[in-house]
Amino acid sequence: MNIANLLRPAAPSARSISLSLSGERVVIRTPERRDMDQWIAARTRNRSYLQPYEPKWPDDALTSAAFNRRLGRQQRDIRTGHACPFLIIRLDNLQLIGAINLNNIVRGAAQYASMGYWLDEQSQGQGYMTEAAMLALGHAFGPLKLHRINAGCVPHNGRSKSLLTRLGFEEEGYAKRYLQINGEWQDHILFGLSIETWKTTLPGSTLNIPA
Ligand SMILES: CC(C)(COP(=O)(O)OP(=O)(O)OC[C@H]1O[C@@H](n2cnc3c(N)ncnc32)[C@H](O)[C@@H]1OP(=O)(O)O)[C@@H](O)C(=O)NCCC(=O)NCCS
Repeated sequence: MNIANLLRPAAPSARSISLSLSGERVVIRTPERRDMDQWIAARTRNRSYLQPYEPKWPDDALTSAAFNRRLGRQQRDIRTGHACPFLIIRLDNLQLIGAINLNNIVRGAAQYASMGYWLDEQSQGQGYMTEAAMLALGHAFGPLKLHRINAGCVPHNGRSKSLLTRLGFEEEGYAKRYLQINGEWQDHILFGLSIETWKTTLPGSTLNIPA
């Protein structure tokens, strides 16, 4: 296995935009066709763990057709500036362990995006998502020049709430029947992080990360 090739984005072409951001223990990188096997494997082993927190999976969710549909949509959204999706890859074993996406990018007076994420259950509780999110937020507030990132989670998703709080997000509201999750319209707690708050929560300041 050629490690450098796995981490490096494929050569950019007019039809795909590739981006890779490295942290200490993870790389976040634009999804590509070569990620299909690992993506299907990760989604397969996490199916029952993730379904309660996601829109209902289609019948073919774990097939190459579904991966290619998603990839096509993501590449179109990158090209049009509507989203910035990333896969999360662990540096110690090169395993694809999740995803973090900046979706619904709105420009004009808004300059915001919604952040969504999932992590392989076996990699939970070790700070991988915190590191991935820090990279994604750095990109959002840096090169993408966004002013605010929104995120929402169902009230019983304690891990998601802890993550957002750790990153400096503030709880801003409660939306009834906000998103259709696992087939049901579910209430969500709404969180937000502006660039002004982000600057005060950069690594080493208020982030509550164990030594
Ligand atoms: C939400 C989700 C991404 C959170 O994952 P997570 O593992 O709790 O988050 P992190 O990877 O950042 O790990 C943080 C935990 O690791 C601990 N940790 C250990 N080493 C760490 C380090 N070096 N840096 C940061 N945290 C570290 C933290 O203390 C924290 O544990 P705690 O919550 O028990 O205090 C994950 O639970 C998930 O994918 N859930 C299912 C899908 C989902 O809910 N998606 C979001 C829908 S809104």
